[in-house]
Amino acid sequence: MKTSTDFLKMKKNSEKIVMLTAYDYPSAKIAEQAGVDVILVGDSLGMVVLGYDTTVPVTIEDMIHHTKAVKRGAPSTYIVTDMPFMTYHLSMEDTLRNAREIIQQSGAHALKLEGAGNVIEKMDALNKAGIPVVAHLGLTPQTVGVLGGYKVQGKDIKSAKKLIEDAKKCEEAGAIALVLECIPMQLAKEVSESISIPTIGIGAGIDTDGQVLVFHDVVTYGVDRVPKFVKQYANMQEQALKGIESYVSETKNNIFPTREHSFTMKEETVQALYG
Ligand code: KIV
Ligand code: NA
Repeated sequence: MKTSTDFLKMKKNSEKIVMLTAYDYPSAKIAEQAGVDVILVGDSLGMVVLGYDTTVPVTIEDMIHHTKAVKRGAPSTYIVTDMPFMTYHLSMEDTLRNAREIIQQSGAHALKLEGAGNVIEKMDALNKAGIPVVAHLGLTPQTVGVLGGYKVQGKDIKSAKKLIEDAKKCEEAGAIALVLECIPMQLAKEVSESISIPTIGIGAGIDTDGQVLVFHDVVTYGVDRVPKFVKQYANMQEQALKGIESYVSETKNNIFPTREHSFTMKEETVQALYG
């Protein structure tokens, strides 16, 4: 299993880090088999597999439940789990208690926290308590209400400079990696060159130290529309719909199941049964 030390080395050697989200046993199994370096149990699970409009309703229990399934599917992959909305903002004590609960009960290797500001001191405390932390800057979906929608961040000089400063603060707070979401590729390059921890981009161009995408976006499963930064490498939606339509139609038309999918008993037993 690759760990944070390997991710650092990979950055030094210009070897790209591949991160993918997974939310359950089968998706984690596929991710591990495909050679993904690190799995993110993102709170995007709220939208992708639970059908919420945002990530805001996701709870600690949701994250633990899904991370446990991912662990069973990918026992040899480093797993990062998102701390959900408002679980690292109330107080330092509340943050540490929530982090302990997720780490102890789910078996995640690291936790991801969005934003800088007051979150920096939380990252520092978690790190000092022995919990590896991944930072997340740029478009931070948990604060989408404040950001005014899902928009590209850091486009002007002021917000670009702030993002570079925040990235440095995340590094100083001991973050093992930094997710950069939806920022101009030129800014992502600058950030990646300004810090020594690996940057993992999503909608941040090619010059980050790694990439992350949402499993269901990559394989087109249950998603109607994907953002510009997504590349759809497969279409599970189409395959699954075709297959299930055939199941419906064959069942209605007495085509399925054939003898091939059925069990039989000895003819004499059948006779005895019917009398
Ligand atoms: O929840 C998530 O999937 C994420 C990634 C988009 C980085 O935070
Ligand atoms: Na997330």
